[in-house]
Amino acid sequence: MSLLPELLLTVLFGAQASFTHPGIILPSKELLGDSELKAIIKRTQKSRDAREVLGFSPRIWEALTETLRAGNDQLAANKYNLVPRVRDLVILGRNLLATKEKAQNYASDEGFEAEVRRLLDICVDKASKPIAANIDKQAHEAEMHIKGNYKKVMITTLQFLNNLMSQNETRKLHVWLHMFGTPAASAPLNPVVQAKASQKPKGKNSPANRPSPGSGVGIAGSGALGTTQSHKETVAKCSFLSAGFNAKYYKPGFLTEVPRLLQPDEIQPLPMMLQNGVAPLEGTDRAMQAVRCKLMLAQGYGRSLLREILVFLGAWEVDEDDLCFKMMTQVTEAILLNGLIPYAFESFRDEKDIVTPAQSVLLKLLASVYRQPETGRDHNTNSSTHSLSISAPSILSESLTSPASDFSEAFDPPPIIESSIPTFFVAVLRKQVIPPTIRIIKLQGAIREGKAKKETFELSLWDLDRVYEGLYQFLELLGIVGDLVIFLKELDKAIPRWVASKSIPQPPSSSPPSPAVKEAGKEESDKVLKVNEAYRVERPFDVCPDDNCADGSGDENEGADGEEPNDDRGLSEPEEFTWPHIKRYLVMLLSSFSWQDKAVQDLVREKGGLQAVLNQCMIDDDNPYIREHAILCIRNLLENNSENQKVVKELEAVQAIPDEVLDRHGYEHYIDDAGRVQLRKVKGKGFSSK
Ligand SMILES: *[C@@H]1O[C@H](CO)[C@@H](O)[C@H](O)[C@H]1NC(C)=O
Ligand SMILES: *[C@@H]1O[C@H](CO)[C@@H](O)[C@H](O)[C@H]1NC(C)=O
Ligand SMILES: *[C@@H]1O[C@H](CO)[C@@H](O)[C@H](O)[C@H]1NC(C)=O
Repeated sequence: MSLLPELLLTVLFGAQASFTHPGIILPSKELLGDSELKAIIKRTQKSRDAREVLGFSPRIWEALTETLRAGNDQLAANKYNLVPRVRDLVILGRNLLATKEKAQNYASDEGFEAEVRRLLDICVDKASKPIAANIDKQAHEAEMHIKGNYKKVMITTLQFLNNLMSQNETRKLHVWLHMFGTPAASAPLNPVVQAKASQKPKGKNSPANRPSPGSGVGIAGSGALGTTQSHKETVAKCSFLSAGFNAKYYKPGFLTEVPRLLQPDEIQPLPMMLQNGVAPLEGTDRAMQAVRCKLMLAQGYGRSLLREILVFLGAWEVDEDDLCFKMMTQVTEAILLNGLIPYAFESFRDEKDIVTPAQSVLLKLLASVYRQPETGRDHNTNSSTHSLSISAPSILSESLTSPASDFSEAFDPPPIIESSIPTFFVAVLRKQVIPPTIRIIKLQGAIREGKAKKETFELSLWDLDRVYEGLYQFLELLGIVGDLVIFLKELDKAIPRWVASKSIPQPPSSSPPSPAVKEAGKEESDKVLKVNEAYRVERPFDVCPDDNCADGSGDENEGADGEEPNDDRGLSEPEEFTWPHIKRYLVMLLSSFSWQDKAVQDLVREKGGLQAVLNQCMIDDDNPYIREHAILCIRNLLENNSENQKVVKELEAVQAIPDEVLDRHGYEHYIDDAGRVQLRKVKGKGFSSK
C-alpha cells in the first residue's frame, strides 16, 4: 500500500508526458500506463485504504491536476482519441472523494476541481456540436461514437462535482455560484463591488425581468431585482458566504445545455446535485439549503437549468417511480417550502404556449409533492421525514436558530399561507388556461359545423398536445366546479363521441339538445325529440350495451387511463383533436364535488350542467367508462335535491335517462378502498361499479 502513491505518480507523469509531448512515449508503454491507471482505479473502488492513502496526499492531487490540465489542453485541441484516458483521471478523482473532507479540500485547493469544470465545459461544447449533414454512414457513426465518449466524461464530471460538494455547506455554495453565477451576475471575485456597478442580469430574456406574480417573491440575491436596501444586504451576505470562492474557470451557466445532451439513464447526477443542494435533507443545514434554493431561482442560469431538467422529464416521459423524478419532487418541495412556486411557475411562462412543457411538469411534480404521505416517503437518499404540508414553516423557523442565522435574515422567507398555492393556480387556470383553451375548442366546433374555415385553425397537433398536457396537470392539481361545468358543456358541444367497437360514422350533427330544453314547453318537445333521435343511435341506454360491458363495469379505479382503445381513425387534422379523457375527468370531478353538497348540486344545475352530464351517459372510447361515471355523477347530483330531480324528470319527457339514475331503490352508494364514492346494485346483477 505504501508504494501505491509512488506508483500512481509514475503513471500520472507518464500520462502527462504523453499529453504534452505526443509520441514521446512508445505506444506499447502508453498502453501499459493506461492499464496501470485502470488497475489503480479498481483498487480505489474496492479498498478504503487505497482511497485514503491517495486521497489524503496533496502530491497526488497536484499531479492529478497537472495531468488533467494537460489532457484538457489536448481535448480542447480536438485530440478526441485521448478522451477515455482523461475520463479515467476524473473517475479516479471521483473515487478518492469518497473519503470526504480532507480529499475534498485537496481536490479543491490543488485546482483539480477547476480543471474538472473546464473539462465539463469542453465536453458540453464538443457533444453539442451538430454533426455535418453530408457525411456518409460510417463517418456519421464515428462522430456519434466520439460524442458518446464526451457524454460519458460529462456524466463522470457531474458525479465528481456531486461528491465534491457533499456535506460541506460552504463548498456546496461555491459549486452553486459556479453553476448559476454569483448574485451580482458577473462578479466572481468581488460581488459587492460588482453589485455597486449595478450589473445587468445575463440572460436578456431573463424571466426575472417580469414582475413577480405573488407577494414576497422579490428574491434576495437576484441581480435583476433592483438595488433595494435588502438587495444590497443580501449581496453583502453572499459575498461573505462566498469568501474563498475560487473563480478559476468561472463560467456560470455551464450546465444549462447538459440536459439536452443526455438521456434518462444518464441525467441522474444532475437532479442529484440539485436535490443535495436545496432539499431539506437529513444532515444538511436547512438555512443553507434554503439559501441555495433561492439563489438557484434568483439567477437566470438557475431557472434555465431547472427549466431544462423539467422539459427533459416531460419529453422523455420519465416515470414517477424513477429516481430522477423523485429527486426533482424533492427539489420542487424545497421550492414550495421557500414560497417560490408561483415565481418559478411564472418564470417558465412563454408567450406561445398556454401552458409550457416546463410548467406542466412543475404542476405534475407539485401534485406529486402533495400526494406524498407524511411518513414512509421512500427515497434512496436519506431524506428527512418532516411534515409535507405546505404549512410547514417549522423547517424555516427552525433554520433561524441554526448557525447560519446571519444569512437567513437576508433571505427572509415569505410567509407561507396554506391556501396561497391553490389560490394562485386557480387564478392562473381561470385567467390564463381555460379561456384560450375554450377558444380552441369552440373553433373546432365551428369548423366541424362548417361555420369556420379549416385554415383558421392554426395550431398543430404538437401544440395541442402541450396545451392538453398542461390542462391535464391543472385538473389533476385542482378542481373548480363552475369552470368544470362550462368546460364540459363546450367539449360536449364541439367534440364528437367515438365508439371504436362499432366504427360507425358519427351522426352528422353533434349539436346537443339546446340548453333551452329545460324550459321547453310541450309545444317544443317534438322538435327537441328529433334532435335527440340522432343521439339514440349512438347512445346505448341499456345496462349492458355491448360486449365491453363486462370489462366496463368492473373497473372504476382509474385503470382505464392505461388502456388506449385501438385508434384506427387516423385523425391527423389538428382541428379534429379529441381531448381524450378530459370529459371523463370533468365528470369524475363534478361527481366527487357534488356528493352530499347541496351548494355544488345547485350550482351545477344553475350552470346548465345537469344536461351536460346526462349527455355523457353513453359510450365514448375517447373517455373510457364515462357512461358509468356520468351515471354516478347524476346520482350524486340528484340525491336529496328536489330541484335537480325535477329538472331531470322534465328532461325525461324528451330524452331517455339511464335506469340506474331513476331507479332509486336498486342502487346504493358506498365508499371504496380509495375513499371514492361509488354506486352499486343492491341485489341481483346489472350495472355495478365495484
Ligand atoms: C469546506 O469547504 C471550505 C472551502 O470551500 C473549506 O475551507 C473548509 O475547510 C471545508 N470544511 C471542511 C470541514 O472540510
Ligand atoms: C438515515 O439517517 C439516519 C440518521 O441521520 C441514520 O441513522 C440512518 O442509518 C440513515 N439511513 C440510511 C438508509 O442511510
Ligand atoms: C338524504 O335523504 C335521506 C332520506 O331522505 C337521508 O337518510 C340522508 O341522510 C340524506 N342525506 C343527506 C346528505 O342529507
